[in-house]
Amino acid sequence: KKSVDDINVKGKKVLVRCDFNVPLQEGKITDENRLVAALPTIKKLIADGGKVILCSHLGKPKGEAKPELSLAPVAKRLSELLGQEVTFAADPEVVGPNAKAAVDAMKDGEVVLLENTRYRAEETKNGEAFSKELASLCDVFVNDAFGTAHRAHCSNVGVTQFVDTAVVGYLMQKEIDFLGNAVNNPERPFVAILGGAKVSSKISVINNLLDKVDTLIIGGGMAYTFSKAAGGNIGISLCEDDYLQYALDMQKKAKEKGVKLLLPVDHRIGDAFSNDCNIQIVKSGEIPEGWEGMDIGPETEKLFCDAVKDAKTVVWNGPMGCFEMPNFAHGTAAVAKALAETDATTIIGGGDSAAAVNILGYGDKMTHISTGGGASLEFLEGKELPGVAAANDK
Ligand code: 3PG
Repeated sequence: KKSVDDINVKGKKVLVRCDFNVPLQEGKITDENRLVAALPTIKKLIADGGKVILCSHLGKPKGEAKPELSLAPVAKRLSELLGQEVTFAADPEVVGPNAKAAVDAMKDGEVVLLENTRYRAEETKNGEAFSKELASLCDVFVNDAFGTAHRAHCSNVGVTQFVDTAVVGYLMQKEIDFLGNAVNNPERPFVAILGGAKVSSKISVINNLLDKVDTLIIGGGMAYTFSKAAGGNIGISLCEDDYLQYALDMQKKAKEKGVKLLLPVDHRIGDAFSNDCNIQIVKSGEIPEGWEGMDIGPETEKLFCDAVKDAKTVVWNGPMGCFEMPNFAHGTAAVAKALAETDATTIIGGGDSAAAVNILGYGDKMTHISTGGGASLEFLEGKELPGVAAANDK
């Protein structure tokens, strides 16, 4: 696959698709990891004398120019991070007169950021007209938006049909290398830890990982569906009754494949969905009526952390409980600590688990924290991501 190392961009207009879909609160960026992760590619293109035109989506404005979803705050913060002005092409049409004027005025090594690509309704439909408009701005296209790679939209897929050269950036390359190696060529033992609320969002991930791992650990809200399927009492815990048979099938598959499948043996439960509710620790399958499983229990923490100790590769996606409530963050914190302390290659899927690891201060202890939430999940499902495939075609 061709990357930014294989092209000469001196004096050329380079359109770079990044994933600057960052959380904002009152115009302030509350997690800038995606911006920091995009810097190596941007710096390289600046150093090589390219005219660097950045673009991204932000949130879901659904074709409307919603001011609260403008990328203006991102341009400001990127300027600070790069130590050089990032000109914001405030243009509700994204590739309208303002954007064209800003691009025309660029000198080599300068940077322009376009407005939120989803201000245009065609973006998410991968329409031809907007793809062509984007392509018309540049000589070369660079896709560095791993977080968006599971979407087939104009700015990451459609545009590649109308440019002569499309390559991937360093972030995209790094994500594919780490996630790809972990899943397809892992140093063993290979342990995967899955959590989060819903079985239904991880059906293909569980199925695919059972073909790859030595141990699969399932915690979080998902585990109660497995517990109920095994005949346990789960009180009012999260459960997807449509997936009870699936849970049994996956347990059978694990047995057939010789994969160790670890499920919680105890839980921290509450009598209300609140940090200040009454709390008990009970064995798995013994949750009383009216009580809800909110976290794994101490025995489970030990079981899961011991399973990670001898691993050589660990992939983690999804929290072990309601970690945003301090009283139910113990399980997620214990797993994060175990991963920080192991010598294994540790790969954290994006979204909640990445946030948890960073909040707990273990960010720099992990081998790789993915910038992709949905994208890293689809990667673990073994799917080919459209954003990656499109950049490969040229
Ligand atoms: C993400 O945050 O997962 C990506 O930026 C994709 O965003 P989307 O789910 O709105 O397409």
